[in-house]
Amino acid sequence: MARSYNFSAGPAILPEEVLTQVQAEMLDFNGTGMSLMEMSHRGKEYSAIHAEAKANLATLLNLPENYSILFMTGGASTQFSLIPMNLLPEGKTADYITAGAWSTKAIKAAQKIGTINEIANTAKDIPTCVPGNDLAFTDDAAYVHICSNETISGAQVKEFPKTEVPLIADMSSDILSRPLDVSQFGMIYAGAQKNLACAGVTLVIIRNDLAERSPAALPDLFQYKHVMENDSLSNTAPTFPIYLIALVTRWLIANGGLEGMQKRNEEKANKLYGAIDASDFYKGTAVTEFRSPMNITFRLPTEELEAKFIAEAAAKNMTSLKGHRSVGGIRASIYNAFPAAGVDALVDFMKAFESANIA
Ligand SMILES: Cc1ncc(COP(=O)(O)O)c(C=O)c1O
Repeated sequence: MARSYNFSAGPAILPEEVLTQVQAEMLDFNGTGMSLMEMSHRGKEYSAIHAEAKANLATLLNLPENYSILFMTGGASTQFSLIPMNLLPEGKTADYITAGAWSTKAIKAAQKIGTINEIANTAKDIPTCVPGNDLAFTDDAAYVHICSNETISGAQVKEFPKTEVPLIADMSSDILSRPLDVSQFGMIYAGAQKNLACAGVTLVIIRNDLAERSPAALPDLFQYKHVMENDSLSNTAPTFPIYLIALVTRWLIANGGLEGMQKRNEEKANKLYGAIDASDFYKGTAVTEFRSPMNITFRLPTEELEAKFIAEAAAKNMTSLKGHRSVGGIRASIYNAFPAAGVDALVDFMKAFESANIA
């Protein structure tokens, strides 16, 4: 069967070149007679992949020397708790910016651990937007938390707030999709299963002095300090998803790096938003100035038409267009690896569907 145009929000599409390479190396990685999955995480072959994944990320992000790259497990959701456990000491407050379902989950997890001040909340309203940058930060907050791209509503932070204290961003659904000045952040984290790899690893990029703050009383594997000092290898690393990070970042470097990705992503998103705006049949969900280039959300005139749209698109090999169960509608996730031809196919289908179904 032909490969599907897979609009899944995550786990999501991977570059076809990467999958082909994984397939070629599956039974015999580098002449070893085994797959990378079957090898020790301390062996020579895996060590080279571990180092390459980190080096490629550092190259793509132009990573300052005082930051570390950690590979952790438990998904981005586990970070929602580990962040306050590591970085919110008793007696201090952390500021949270809420703009959608994921930042709501982050603040709820943090409220179980320590004192939190929600300094902005736009999440209650859909169509959604991101709070402006005129925010009343807590004096001497431990950190400020933000989600850079709300995967469910399709709203993205375009300009990050300037903060005196460390800014921590959940970039699960737009990491490596645009150039980024890492020095603006104390910490960035992302589940891998959208723009980085398959599920199973969480990327954490942290300023070393923050990682040093982990309380010694925390279990070792929960401590950023411990993970940093052991190069994410104090227990068995999730070797296969880290191998995928190495291959995906190789692909990103070969395809113009983050500038190249941003250009590609903007072209794809502009086409799709253009098709939405050119018609009265489709209505974009997110507030225009915060529209995400990764997750494009829109509605049709009725839920019946939405169900028909999703079913007919799937029959044409365009899959996973159903919006998140909490909001409904249509969501087309077009991450870095999503091909431009798939966007063209969707736009053509949207036009044909509208003509056939307009009242
Ligand atoms: C922005 C954002 N944050 C966090 C998560 C949760 O990630 P995980 O499932 O890896 O815990 C997701 C998952 O889709 C997400 O989109």
